[in-house]
Amino acid sequence: MKISKVGVVGAGLMGSGIAQVIAEADYDVIWVDISNEQLQKGLTNIKRLLQRKVEKGKSTTVKAEAALNRLTTATDMSVLVGVDLVIEAVPENLELKKKIFKQLDEVVRPGTILASNTSGLSVSALGSVTRCPEHVIGAHFFYPAPMMELLEVTPGLLTSNEVFHTMMAFAKSIGKISVECKDYPGFIVNRILVPMMNEAIYLVMEGVKPDDIDTAMKMGANHPMGPITLADFVGLDTLLATMQGLYEGFNDSKYRPCPLLVKMVEAGTVGRKTGRGFYCYNEKGERV
Ligand SMILES: NC(=O)c1ccc[n+]([C@@H]2O[C@H](COP(=O)([O-])OP(=O)(O)OC[C@H]3O[C@@H](n4cnc5c(N)ncnc54)[C@H](O)[C@@H]3O)[C@@H](O)[C@H]2O)c1
Repeated sequence: MKISKVGVVGAGLMGSGIAQVIAEADYDVIWVDISNEQLQKGLTNIKRLLQRKVEKGKSTTVKAEAALNRLTTATDMSVLVGVDLVIEAVPENLELKKKIFKQLDEVVRPGTILASNTSGLSVSALGSVTRCPEHVIGAHFFYPAPMMELLEVTPGLLTSNEVFHTMMAFAKSIGKISVECKDYPGFIVNRILVPMMNEAIYLVMEGVKPDDIDTAMKMGANHPMGPITLADFVGLDTLLATMQGLYEGFNDSKYRPCPLLVKMVEAGTVGRKTGRGFYCYNEKGERV
């Protein structure tokens, strides 16, 4: 299966990085979001990041401009009719994603690969709402997508081998290192990392200082970033949703979300993006 034109649905935190990575790898990208404002914000962000790469000598003005020229934005899904692959990056909500996959299935040509950037929802469930579940696959990028090298590739129960191998080859072509996951909540990284952050929040609830937990894991386990800092960085709302996904997906109490995590999300103190989580942040996202 040849991929030359790629659709990206969603222009948030992840969609923006994914669109950038793919355009930089010489693919034409059609980038769709219901919100034109999000698309314009995403484009401005990509321009800024590409400019920074040029300034650091990691890219050239010609390459940066070429990548920008390969990006086309739209607010209507119908423009995706000619693409070979679509990567969906709308919020982590199964009903919303199913709705999008149904819409995509009606719009794209038969044979188009439909990939989801879900962090852990069922790829098989997304495939079930399409006419061709063989072509539906998980392609989980990490934040920030232009910097993080990993791509978790997750075939659903009915995904074809050909689609799986095409996705692995595509990952390589955009400079990512791919791993094969099984279609169970959390795949590999979140299955291990999210319960670790949840456990760290239990320690905070028991009275341990966030800074001590971060120092302990950096100095004692050689982690580059402590779990509480990481939780604030990822967003406590995202963390809670993923933890709930593990809890419900496996129906296992070992994945119970920490009550303090639930409380902080209820209070709206969800981390760096709101200026306050376990730590406080200024407008630039720096800790204060
Ligand atoms: N945030 C992370 O660190 C991270 C990391 C890896 C994977 N993910 C996954 O990536 C996906 C997207 O997360 P995000 O953080 O980028 O979300 P986000 O909220 O930043 O962005 C979502 C975008 O989807 C758009 N959208 C909503 N409904 C839509 C529709 N019907 N049609 C088109 N666009 C629509 C929104 O306007 C928004 O721009 C989720 O599945 C999430 O689990 C997130």
